[in-house]
Amino acid sequence: MAEVIEVKNLKKYFPVQKSVIEVLLSKKIEYIRAVDDVSFKMEKGEVLSLVGESGCGKTTTGRILVGLEEPTDGKIVFKGKDVTKLSKEEFRKIRKHLQMIFQDPYASLNPKMKIGEHLEDPLLIHNIAENREAKELALQMLERVGLVPAEQFYNRLPYQLSGGQRQRVAIARAMILKPEFVVADEPVSMIDVSLRASILDLLMSFKAEYSLSMLFITHDLSVARLVGDRIAVMYLGKIVEIGETRKVIHHPKHPYTAALLSAVPSFLKREINIEIIGDVANPREPPSGCRYHPRCPFAKEICSKEEPKLEGKGHLVACHFPLDLDL
Ligand SMILES: Nc1ncnc2c1ncn2[C@@H]1O[C@H](COP(=O)(O)OP(=O)(O)OP(=O)(O)O)[C@@H](O)[C@H]1O
Ligand SMILES: [Mg+2]
Repeated sequence: MAEVIEVKNLKKYFPVQKSVIEVLLSKKIEYIRAVDDVSFKMEKGEVLSLVGESGCGKTTTGRILVGLEEPTDGKIVFKGKDVTKLSKEEFRKIRKHLQMIFQDPYASLNPKMKIGEHLEDPLLIHNIAENREAKELALQMLERVGLVPAEQFYNRLPYQLSGGQRQRVAIARAMILKPEFVVADEPVSMIDVSLRASILDLLMSFKAEYSLSMLFITHDLSVARLVGDRIAVMYLGKIVEIGETRKVIHHPKHPYTAALLSAVPSFLKREINIEIIGDVANPREPPSGCRYHPRCPFAKEICSKEEPKLEGKGHLVACHFPLDLDL
């Protein structure tokens, strides 16, 4: 299968905001290492689920991939081209192939713009269609995402829609450009549980129709398992495990993955009880060696000293003492 996107040694360090007094007292600039040396590849038509607890860098990774955030370091190769090296004008041309769907469907829509205009706008900006044709495409798309009668929804404002309907608009807006790569950032976590399955089905139907590649960000392993061909597990800015969904779920190698799984045992063959010790560490001062070592029940001396590399064939893990489980 053809490779669509490759991320190489991606880093994003955010300078920490300090008070005037702190700045005067210390010249040192501190950084939050939100994404710290992340590499992976995605193929055409593939869904990669990105999981990990709050603050581990999932959204930042997604935003960098679609050009909403500049990386501090590293490369993003989209269909053979390093997009981090493109000029603004060159990047604008490929921007339509890279779309993002956000967690909060209300915040991602303009409260003053009609629903129809949200769908026409990208067509006009990218010179894909004009006036009557743009409206026709917008109406077709509204129908495609189940917002019928389309004419009625076209004229409504975002506040006149439910959360689920607004997320359908956000999906429609991303899909109207027939993108090749989409980042879906927790697209159902703010939606009523009863509507989640239908929104996921809608997303997956576009994935199949356009053979698009999707980075699906979620902190919910049961959703990651449902939608992902592969799963990547992130911890404090790093990918600690990545592999085919079946392997990561039933044969997790990283103690962090196993701990996340032990909290959602319903789809496992047997229950496990692997704990996570303490709270998530401060990304300003990540622990030495393996960043997970202070919370890992299996940690040994080397774990605090040497950072494990992400290694393996197909199913990769960054751990000095990978687990061998059959769940
Ligand atoms: N613009 C920013 N400026 C400063 N720090 C930021 C910025 N965006 C994110 N961060 C920090 O970077 C780290 C990673 O944040 P990110 O939003 O990528 O995590 P996440 O995995 O998406 O978390 P969640 O599950 O809560 O959405 C966090 O410590 C966060 O506070
Ligand atoms: Mg996030």
